[in-house]
Amino acid sequence: MTQEEFVPKAYTNAALEGTVKWKSPSNIALIKYWGKKDNQIPANPSISFTLDACATTTSVTYKKLDSKADNFSFDLFFEGKPKEDFKPKIETFLTRIEAYLPFLKEYHFKIETSNSFPHSSGIASSASGMSALALCFMSLEKKLNPSITTAFFNNKASFLARLGSGSACRSIEGPLVQWGNHKKTEGSTDLFGIKYPNEVHSVFKNYHDTILLVDKGQKQVSSTVGHNLMHNHPFAKERFAQAHTNLNELQTVFKEGNLKRFVEIVESEALTLHAMMMTSMPYFILMKPNTLQIINKIWEFRAINKSNICFTLDAGANVHVLYPENEKQVVYQFIKDELVAYCENEQYLCDRIGLGAKQL
Ligand code: PMV
Repeated sequence: MTQEEFVPKAYTNAALEGTVKWKSPSNIALIKYWGKKDNQIPANPSISFTLDACATTTSVTYKKLDSKADNFSFDLFFEGKPKEDFKPKIETFLTRIEAYLPFLKEYHFKIETSNSFPHSSGIASSASGMSALALCFMSLEKKLNPSITTAFFNNKASFLARLGSGSACRSIEGPLVQWGNHKKTEGSTDLFGIKYPNEVHSVFKNYHDTILLVDKGQKQVSSTVGHNLMHNHPFAKERFAQAHTNLNELQTVFKEGNLKRFVEIVESEALTLHAMMMTSMPYFILMKPNTLQIINKIWEFRAINKSNICFTLDAGANVHVLYPENEKQVVYQFIKDELVAYCENEQYLCDRIGLGAKQL
């Protein structure tokens, strides 16, 4: 598929006014996307668990203007209140997607959005936020062209979400989404995320992710800056090749249910992500002392209890604790007894693997 296929030819129907609404989840990468080319094209393939509880709900109320405007026309409300400081990000997103949704300047939009997780939790809301907004615009496009198929709808929603924030393209469907060209995955593409098409062992169907909120502050280095530091990074070539190898192996793990190898690949990916940050120029560290305390506690617990608990990290200090359904009682008890003390204000979020966005 090429991106030109997402440029609509002509619309058959009209839509004067109405509201569309979507709830879209966050996702947690197992193989990490870190480094990109122009237009949010990833430097390597990635794969993630779609989450369930951590989600953004967005409604878009549209009203057709008398004539096409010169600029985008929209109001933005976050958790019921006008949110001027989010507007530039939305404006940039609209500019990037206009070529694929040529009707955008023909409407005034009222965008109302809210998150299921606390605002200042340090949880990246860009994946759920951008995917929810992309889905709303796709619902409007579907009103203008009711003949578009579900597959096209999902692919284009993912494609548009990617232009807002790369990892957002992995939040449309679930439970496992792969994004980026990968030789061994049929249908994989840099343009959008696809539902993982190969066999998945039942042990991965109910995986849990408890997110420990170690640091709820604003990140010192944005992921945009971090991605850019992979240009001319001394280990970039090896890292991008390693992501392909790890993905090959993870595919075998998904098929066979080998949790020991799952743990090794997932934790190595998390630490490699942070190693890239620590070895870029300028270098930076997003982990906090409590991130390391938690990692050590998890290793200790795993060894003593022969557990399959493991961790992964996103671009921040918070720790995602991953574990299978049949260990949920013991691991949850361990989290409460031993790990919560390392969280800011003892805060954590209980999530699990989910099936993707829902229209409301
Ligand atoms: O979508 P971005 O540009 O915020 O990048 C996200 C990168 C990581 O969360 C660190 C990894 C990933 O694959 O989600």
